[in-house]
Amino acid sequence: MAITFEKVNFSYGAGTVLAQSILHDVTLEMPTGLVTAIVGQTGSGKSTLIQHINGLLKPTSGRVIVDHFELTKHTKEKELVKLRQKVGISFQFPENQLFANTVLEDVMYAPLNFGATKAEAKLAAEDTLRRVGVAVDLWHKSPFELSGGQMRRVAMAGTLASNPSVMVMDEPAAGLDPKGQTELLQLVLELKSLGKTVILISHQMDHVVAVADQVVVMHEGRVVAQETPEKLFNRDAAWFKKMKLDLPKAGQLAEKMKANGIHLSRRPLILNELARLINTEVSHE
Ligand SMILES: Nc1ncnc2c1ncn2[C@@H]1O[C@H](COP(=O)(O)OP(=O)(O)OP(=O)(O)O)[C@@H](O)[C@H]1O
Ligand SMILES: [Mg+2]
Repeated sequence: MAITFEKVNFSYGAGTVLAQSILHDVTLEMPTGLVTAIVGQTGSGKSTLIQHINGLLKPTSGRVIVDHFELTKHTKEKELVKLRQKVGISFQFPENQLFANTVLEDVMYAPLNFGATKAEAKLAAEDTLRRVGVAVDLWHKSPFELSGGQMRRVAMAGTLASNPSVMVMDEPAAGLDPKGQTELLQLVLELKSLGKTVILISHQMDHVVAVADQVVVMHEGRVVAQETPEKLFNRDAAWFKKMKLDLPKAGQLAEKMKANGIHLSRRPLILNELARLINTEVSHE
């Protein structure tokens, strides 16, 4: 399912004296079956933006189109049920998303809500919990007894269990250990291989280069770039400073080399590429 934002503006508390204008003329395209990463400094509007994809927030003006569904400020709550079945969001703070007495019940909730029988919902929940790496001995515990990383996985399973066509993940790596982070990136690629449209918000540029087909950069509520990782991470280093964004590790190393007089023909995205460039472009005495 493709997603299009057309001149979306959004204010929290629109129409009140406390109205705070957050998104400004956001226009972008997230194509079907691709991974779009959204990056930008804290407070730039990433979480606000993605909550428009399933109508949790509605544009103050402009429109969001998800497949054939058009979302505007006039869209009614009951029209959103179908959309929410197709768009799964795993939120930035998983503890706000969990609510049931046990992990298994929590993950069964969405499939049950969307019309599955109890047996079907249980199968879907068990399958999804296995897929995101939640050990069986945790399934009957309260989700609130779990560690941050496990909570994150359960919240993710709760979103995936209803098999959405669009999967939005808001900083899913937060709270995961390095192994968990690698597994998460594998999950993103697996979802992509199943033809799903994936949207990943991340502060970790190495994650972005590992999975993203395109990157959207937000700055003060505006989209300031939408392009491939190759193009983005070859922009001027000063631009990254201004956007308060990091470069991937390989790019940071290449910048350090440059400061020491060693120039490469392009800025590498991953360490293997850096090693290759050093090998072919830096003379060995
Ligand atoms: N419910 C709310 N009511 C009022 N203002 C809000 C609300 N949620 C967020 N904001 C404000 O909107 C702006 C954008 O916040 P948002 O959470 O979308 O940023 P973000 O890019 O996701 O940041 P982070 O990287 O820290 O998660 C911030 O100034 C924030 O204070
Ligand atoms: Mg956020």
